[in-house]
Amino acid sequence: NNYCVIMAGGVGSRFWPLSKHKQPKQFLDILGTGKTLIQMTFERFASICPVENFFIVTNANYKDLVLQQLPNIKEDQVLLEPIRRNTAPCIAYANHKIQKRNPKASIIVTPADHLILNETKFLSVLSEGIQFVQAGNQLLTLGIHPSRPETGYGYIQVANKAVKDYTNVYPVKTFTEKPHLELAKIFQESGEFFWNSGIFIWKLSAIQEEFNKYLPDVNALFESIFEKLDTPQEQEVIDEIYPECQNISIDYGILEKSENVFVYCSEFGWSDLGTWGSLYEHTAKDSNQNAIQGENVMLYESKNCLVNVSNGKLVVVQGLKDYIVVETDNTLLICPKRDEQEIKKIVNDVKITK
Ligand code: GDD
Ligand code: MG
Repeated sequence: NNYCVIMAGGVGSRFWPLSKHKQPKQFLDILGTGKTLIQMTFERFASICPVENFFIVTNANYKDLVLQQLPNIKEDQVLLEPIRRNTAPCIAYANHKIQKRNPKASIIVTPADHLILNETKFLSVLSEGIQFVQAGNQLLTLGIHPSRPETGYGYIQVANKAVKDYTNVYPVKTFTEKPHLELAKIFQESGEFFWNSGIFIWKLSAIQEEFNKYLPDVNALFESIFEKLDTPQEQEVIDEIYPECQNISIDYGILEKSENVFVYCSEFGWSDLGTWGSLYEHTAKDSNQNAIQGENVMLYESKNCLVNVSNGKLVVVQGLKDYIVVETDNTLLICPKRDEQEIKKIVNDVKITK
C-alpha cells in the first residue's frame, strides 16, 4: 500500500553555478559520496516502498538524467512536466497516477535533494508516521527543531499536547511558509515552532480531499484527463493541461490553509542542503575550518571558506575569510557566506541555461 513520490523538478538555484538548469543539484554528487542526491533519496525510501511504487516527478528535460541515475526505475514511473508549476501540481499528477493503481494507498512525498544523517531513526519515524495516517485522515509532515531563524523554510506552530498514542505527533496550530526575517526570529525565540522538512505522509484519499477543497481547479484539470493516464496519449494531454495549472507550492496551496495537518517532531540529522552554507556544515574541513572540494586547491591564510572546483583548474586563495568560491567550466563565483541567499537573485540575471 505504500507509495513514494520523489519531487525532482526544482532547479536548485542557490547552488549555482554548480547547479544549473541542465543539471540541478539533485542530480549532482555534491557531498562527494559517489552518489547523487536523488540516488541517495531513492535508496533511503527503497526499504519502505516497493520499487514499482515509486514515482519521480520532474521536468521533461531531466528524463534521461533520472533514468540513468535510477536504473531500477522504469520509464513509466517518471512523470514528466513540460513546464515548472511548483510542487502542488507535481503532487496532484502523482496522486492521479496512484489513484489508478491503488485508491487506498498511503503516500510518502519527498524532495529529491535532502540529507538525512540518521537513516535508522528516519525509517522508524516513517513507519510510525505511516501507521498514524493510515488510522485516520490526517496530513502529516515531518518537523525539525529549528536551529536559526531561516526565511527559506515553512514554520509550524504546534499545539501543546501530543496526539494520543503518538508521543511525537502534534496537531498543527499554524503553518507559515517562508516568513520574513523578523517573523522567523520571533518564531525561533518562542520555542513553539518547528521547521517543515518538506517530507509528507498521507493517505491518497486525505490529500485528494484537501486538493478538492483548496486547489479544486488543479484537481479538476487532472480529473479531466484521468481516462488518458497510462495510455499512449498521457504525455500529450499532460503537456496540454500543465500550463493551465496554478503555479503554487503544496505549502502555500494546501498546508498553510488545511485544518487537518499534524507534525511528527523528531531529530534524524536533517539538512535540506539548500545553500552552499548548508553544504559547508556537512562536509569535512581542514584545521582552518575550510571545506575544500576539488583536486588542485591551495589555500593560504584563509579561514571558514568553502572552495568547490569541478573543472580541474588550479585555484589559489590567499587571505579570504568566510567566503564561498566555486569554479566550474565556464563560471567563477566569489561570494561572502553571509550573502549566500543572494545567489538565487544573481542567477536570475545570468544566462544559466547555456
Ligand atoms: N516536479 C517538480 N516540479 N518538483 C519541483 C518543482 C516543480 O515545479 N519545484 C520544486 N520541486 C522539487 C525540488 O526539486 C525539491 O526537491 C522539492 O520539490 C521542494 O522544492 P524547493 O523549491 O526546494 O522548496 P523549498 O526548499 O523552497 O521549500 C520547501 O522545503 C523546505 C524544507 O527544505 C517547503 O516545503 C518548506 O516549507 C520547507 O521548509
Ligand atoms: Mg528545498
